[in-house]
Amino acid sequence: MSVEALSGKVFLIVTGASRGLGRQIAITFGSMLEEGSRALLLARNKGALQEVAKSIPSKVTVCTISADLSKSTDTKFKEFISESLRGTTLSAFDRVVLVHNIGSIGNISQNVNDIVDLKVWRDYYDLNFFVPAVLNAVVMNTFASKTIKKTIINITTLMAIKAYVRFGQYNSVNAAREMYFKVFALENPDVNVLSYSPGPIDTDMFTTVCEKIADLKSRKMFNEMKEKKFLLTTEQVVNGLVQVLNEHKYNSADRVGYYEEM
Ligand SMILES: NC(=O)c1ccc[n+]([C@@H]2O[C@H](COP(=O)([O-])OP(=O)(O)OC[C@H]3O[C@@H](n4cnc5c(N)ncnc54)[C@H](OP(=O)(O)O)[C@@H]3O)[C@@H](O)[C@H]2O)c1
Repeated sequence: MSVEALSGKVFLIVTGASRGLGRQIAITFGSMLEEGSRALLLARNKGALQEVAKSIPSKVTVCTISADLSKSTDTKFKEFISESLRGTTLSAFDRVVLVHNIGSIGNISQNVNDIVDLKVWRDYYDLNFFVPAVLNAVVMNTFASKTIKKTIINITTLMAIKAYVRFGQYNSVNAAREMYFKVFALENPDVNVLSYSPGPIDTDMFTTVCEKIADLKSRKMFNEMKEKKFLLTTEQVVNGLVQVLNEHKYNSADRVGYYEEM
């Protein structure tokens, strides 16, 4: 299938690409790209990133960079991009596609009143909000030429719009991320921005929720979802994302949910 948002020679960036949803986005998108495209895959686990790279056709040059993104800065991101551009130039690309997939669940063992350590909040917001905002800006400023088309995908969650007990960090950061991308879309009307909400997926994150959520009613609910095989596979979710991009019925920065569309 040829999807306009992934067409031409693409520079693809996926955060959190070593496992879970990000791994599948890297593989599926990477397999759809034209010869001469490049992919920059970011996460901490270098070995896992390299395994993902092996699943992408060799006509796409893949650069894997191991980094703790919570500690990354604009300077680091510029270095990562220039490392992955080695042997080519920005003008070789028709399009940049940036997938903000990174997301951590945060503190789900305490109520918001109990999280009084400012550092816990700051560290969480660094990884999940501030760093994606800075990466987004660096990518936009690097690929500033109007001739390079831009597709930005923010992976979001139902929890950006629906509050759950003990999810104070995750709920609030995802709500903030969606609003950030709405502002970004207003300021950048020529960019195709999508906030995609995948639904519950069978990944390490969901397992962590089942094991760590302190609220017993919620723990029962999440474990039942897993036991009753209610969870989606990463393949289903990414195929859904490709379909949403292909049909392009959304306005820039709309949130589109897997279940709402399928
Ligand atoms: N799973 C669900 O049910 C669900 C539902 C709705 C939305 N989502 C959203 O989907 C996205 C992906 O979730 P997932 O379930 O695939 O999560 P996951 O299984 O926990 O994977 C998280 C990814 O982020 C990377 N990562 C975590 N901390 C990092 C750090 N400090 N620096 C660099 N990379 C880091 C991990 O790789 P390393 O460990 O190698 O660094 C991994 O590749 C998230 O935005 C999540 O909110 C998930």
